[in-house]
Amino acid sequence: MAQQFMNVDRNLAMELVRVTEAAALAASRWVGKGDKIAADGAAVDAMRAAIDSVAMDGVVVIGEGEKDEAPMLFIGERVGTLAPGAPKVEIAVDPIDGTTLTSKGMPNAVAVIGMSEAGTLYDSHGLFYMNKIATGPDAANVVDISAPVLTNLQNVAKAKGMKVSELTVCVLDRPRHADLVKEIRAAGGRIKFISDGDVAGCIMTCLPGTGVDLYLGTGGAPECVITACALKCLGGALQAKPWPRPDTDDAAQAKAKGLDLNSVLDLDDLAKGDNTFFACTGITDGELVRGVHYSNGYATTESLVMRSKTGTVRRIVAQHRIDKVRQYGFAEQ
Ligand code: FBP
Repeated sequence: MAQQFMNVDRNLAMELVRVTEAAALAASRWVGKGDKIAADGAAVDAMRAAIDSVAMDGVVVIGEGEKDEAPMLFIGERVGTLAPGAPKVEIAVDPIDGTTLTSKGMPNAVAVIGMSEAGTLYDSHGLFYMNKIATGPDAANVVDISAPVLTNLQNVAKAKGMKVSELTVCVLDRPRHADLVKEIRAAGGRIKFISDGDVAGCIMTCLPGTGVDLYLGTGGAPECVITACALKCLGGALQAKPWPRPDTDDAAQAKAKGLDLNSVLDLDDLAKGDNTFFACTGITDGELVRGVHYSNGYATTESLVMRSKTGTVRRIVAQHRIDKVRQYGFAEQ
């Protein structure tokens, strides 16, 4: 299988970007319209239509949910051309990370896909949330999710040649983060709150120019696996711990599945393969990529495409003729 995967044409990464472009184009028609369900539905439809053109024999491991609750891109669904000899891979998708951001026209909504060899992506099924810490290559070796916030900030600052007071920590703006926020402020760090979209929030830590040095806090477990695909390509660090919501049966469910709630997962647990791919396309403008813009009969998309084996990160700007993409139903409601 490994040999088979090594034969994957490098352009597979480039094929994946067409999948996220399709989802972003479809979602873009719903930006600011206050209907996150419709936006998500359009993105799922478009991503599902595009994904079967990728030369792979893929299984969705992170998707829209169970088969009975999601008609498409459900966990276990086979996707790709499924041609004989096509590489066997696992797929993690989120047609929109930031459905509310999309419905309100707010920054950093993205369409994302991660891909890795069969049997290498973490099965987060049964877990809703994870506590996460993420940072870029400069400080990848010094973060520790089990250490106090102050220690992590001091170590990241040292590794980056900065003062703690110069660091910016990205945090999802949630009441559950009240103590975390106090600790970051007490340590002297600066905070960039995001209202949603922690896939983008974590990736920002790896890209110069975003101004984000560290990501801390709890967010979606599926998003954590997708983020791992990206950070593996970018040489960053991501550690995660299952986070059962208080007063729910999250803990019992996870235990019933045999998950160890005290386990610390790092990048190699979340995405074990050494040939991992990631693509994202902006729906709304953000620090990572610009969103979909329309002018003169064209829709312009901006995407990031990455591959862990080579560490190559490509930024792809594409112009789509609206009269052509309409034929595929991508740009129409
Ligand atoms: P959706 O696009 O599915 O709404 O997810 C957005 C998101 O902000 C994720 O990026 C994040 O991991 C998760 O929701 C956080 O969950 P919650 O909103 O319940 O705190």
